[in-house]
Order: sequence, then structure tokens, then C-alpha cells
Amino acid sequence: PLADLTTVAAPLRAARTGLGAFNVVHLEHGAAFVAAAERADRPVVLQVSQNAVKFHGALAPIGTATLALARAASVDVVVHLDHADDVALVREALDLGFTSVMYDGSKLPTEQNVATTAEVVRLAHERGVSVEAELGEVGGKNGVHDPSARTDPGEAAWFVAETGVDLLAVAVGSSHAMTTRGAVLDTELIAQIAAAVDVPLVLHGSSGVSDEGMRAAIEAGMTKINVSTHLNKIFTGEVRAALEENPDLVDSRKWFRPGLDAISAEVERLLRWYADQ
Ligand code: G3H
Ligand code: ZN
Repeated sequence: PLADLTTVAAPLRAARTGLGAFNVVHLEHGAAFVAAAERADRPVVLQVSQNAVKFHGALAPIGTATLALARAASVDVVVHLDHADDVALVREALDLGFTSVMYDGSKLPTEQNVATTAEVVRLAHERGVSVEAELGEVGGKNGVHDPSARTDPGEAAWFVAETGVDLLAVAVGSSHAMTTRGAVLDTELIAQIAAAVDVPLVLHGSSGVSDEGMRAAIEAGMTKINVSTHLNKIFTGEVRAALEENPDLVDSRKWFRPGLDAISAEVERLLRWYADQ
């Protein structure tokens, strides 16, 4: 069923296990991720980013379909708006029935990030919807990988208290859109932030982190694990291979399927890994 992010994340945080959050870039990805979560018997977050909304031209078609997938699932599925810096888009997600939103004010001066995040929290909490916010910018989306940005534990505690956010995305050594898995996370810092705040922590740019690095991060207190590029890379690799093997293919279902099967298998593996299974 469609589930609330705070409710799903709380016991996982307490048990020091990870919650996989995967970006629904194309509608079919949502079905592949739900099938994976059902096989693993784990909750999952399906997230639609503001960038994906730009690609699709609107939130409603992909958002409504993702909500339908969640409602039909046998495991808990959170439908989350990822990296929104547009409050109008947040409102639209709330109207559609998303159970979680990320307001990303990480590029704003801190005071402004606090003020706008607090306003989004007020809007979302009126509807019983969870809010994730980011403090300390996890870069990489502009192609520049600078994993040196760090979230200060004391500032994190202050930010959570000031804004009332339900989850906090932190900068601890990852960088968005890495196509290799060599990012080194600061697990000591993760443990310090986890001890300083009483909300689940979110890791962005998780594609750049190795399996072992992720296990250490989860044990240190990281809960929501956002993965996108890693799955895009697998999907596109399978599609490329299918088309190269069979240059006469014209039916898009024939080359889409191997891509979907591969990301579904990988999401199942990741969900089990995050849960130490
Ligand atoms: O919000 C989405 C994630 O942070 C995904 O980052 O594409 O580097 O895995 P990634
Ligand atoms: Zn992100």
C-alpha cells in the first residue's frame, strides 16, 4: 500500500537498516522497483524528481501512475517528490497525494533555507505529509564532483529544530551522478550527525558508494539511501547491448525489457543488502 515516509523510516532507523529510495525516471521504472521490493519483502521509496518532472513536462501523469503502483503493492511504498526547489511543485505533489516531499533549499543562504523549509513543513504537515530537507549541499548535478562539502552536526540539530523537518539530507562525502563507485563517506561524521538529530538521515548521490561503504554508512546511522545514476547506467548498458546484438529491432518493448529486468534485479539486491539480508 501507499505508505507514509516517517512511519516507514522510524523502525528502520531504530534497527540501523537502510531504506532504498529509487528515482522513477520513466513510468516503467516504478513497476520494476515495486516488483523488486515485493520479491525482497521490503518497503521502498519511489521518488519523482523536479528534473524528471521537467523531462515529462508535468508531474500529474507520472505522479498519478506512481501513486497507483504504490496503492496496488503488497509492501509499503512511499511516493516522494525529490529535489524540489519550487514550492508550487510541492503544493501540486501534496494535492496529488504524495506521502513525502523533499524541499531542496541547499543552494540558498542558510537563513533562507530555514525559512522556506519551515513554510513547506507547515504546508505538508497540514496534510500529514513528511518533509525531507537538505543542509550542506551534495553537489555533482552540474557535472562537478566536489565531495568535500560537509554538514556540521551542531548546525544539523539546530536546522531540524528550527524547521521541524522529518528527514535530513546531509553532505558526508557523496556527490550526485557518479558513474563509478569510489566515493569515500565520512562514517564518523554520519555517526555524529545521527547522534545529534532525532530524525532519519538521507544519503544523496548513493550511486558513487560501494556496497561495503554503504553497509558502513547504514551501521553509522544513515537511513534513506537515494540511488539513481547507478540504475540508469545498468539500464542503458542493457539497452545498448540489446540494440547492438539485434540492430533490426524496432519494437521498443523488446529492448526496454532487458533494461527493466536488470534494474529490478539490482534493486532487489540493494534492498536486501541495505537490510543486511
Ligand atoms: O536524489 C537522488 C539521488 O541523490 C540520486 O543520486 O544519481 O548519484 O545516485 P545518484
Ligand atoms: Zn539527490
